Amino acid sequence: MISPLIQITPPPSRESDEELIAQIQQLRKERNAVIMAHNYQIPAIQDLADFVGDSLALAREATRVDAEVIVLCGVSFMAETAKLLNPQRTVIIPDPNAGCSLADSITAEQLREWKAQHPGAVVVSYVNTTAAVKAETDICCTSSNAEKVIRSIPEETPILFCPDMFLGDYLKRITGRQNMEIWAGECHVHAGIRPEEVRELLEHTPDAELLIHPECGCTSSLVWAHGQGMLPEHTFMLSTDGMIRHARASHATNFIVATETGLLHRMQRENPTKRFFPADRAAVCVYMKMITLPKLRDALRDLQPQVTIPEDIAVRARRSIERMLAVS
Ligand code: 13P
Ligand code: SF4
Repeated sequence: MISPLIQITPPPSRESDEELIAQIQQLRKERNAVIMAHNYQIPAIQDLADFVGDSLALAREATRVDAEVIVLCGVSFMAETAKLLNPQRTVIIPDPNAGCSLADSITAEQLREWKAQHPGAVVVSYVNTTAAVKAETDICCTSSNAEKVIRSIPEETPILFCPDMFLGDYLKRITGRQNMEIWAGECHVHAGIRPEEVRELLEHTPDAELLIHPECGCTSSLVWAHGQGMLPEHTFMLSTDGMIRHARASHATNFIVATETGLLHRMQRENPTKRFFPADRAAVCVYMKMITLPKLRDALRDLQPQVTIPEDIAVRARRSIERMLAVS
């Protein structure tokens, strides 16, 4: 028997996704806001966003926005990039704690020390860096344009590349560039994707095309194995948008996708007759998944949390992004 003294509190009422989406649609109109989402966002957010893309596409799109408010559903460095390119607009990120383990692998202080050891070198930073690191950078790059950016630098000029060692290593191989120092940073999600798992999947689906993001820990050994003819001809190193375009254009039916699993949503939605297998089901970026429908609704309602960047950092950081956009 239940004692009369015990109070049973009903569980807090939870709004359904449909209710949240309806509120978001209403608020985005009232706020004159554009919602931009990265390819790794949860499906519900990808489906309602005005624009979904990779880091480069998000940066490019940010230069074309004419809405008053930009809501960046992605990680902090992406929201910072949008703000750098739109200093006069309100840029909000639904959860400012959505960081990036790769961006955290180098600080501005560390980069200044590294530069001091290599005077005359050009600093190329992957866009997965903080605004403070970008302020110390000559030119940024993303996985979409990294090769182009490296080739745009005169051959005799030494390069400091940061922070992703797998991407750096891959770039060194494909450009044959010897005078390039690479920072030993990595993304915990991609570094965890192992070549053994990819090989095992290939054994089960030998006709599958293998799509690898150059941040992957499997990149170096798989690229080497590819060069030795140990992998199928159908192996492609691509950015997340590159994978989307490839899946659309390819005549293959099966694809093994070595990147964060959020990308498979868009691939599968756009190509219902094709099959996409994650190279590693555990490749989930917890930071990307911190952006949820309730947080997006609250951010639009309150116009918070806003992205702010100190002006002295913003001026220098913006230059490194604009140089990148000019060569890509
Ligand atoms: P893309 O530029 O290919 O979208 O990659 C961004 C990223 O964070 C990969 O983990
Ligand atoms: Fe950063 Fe890796 Fe997440 Fe991409 S997947 S945002 S590189 S932690």
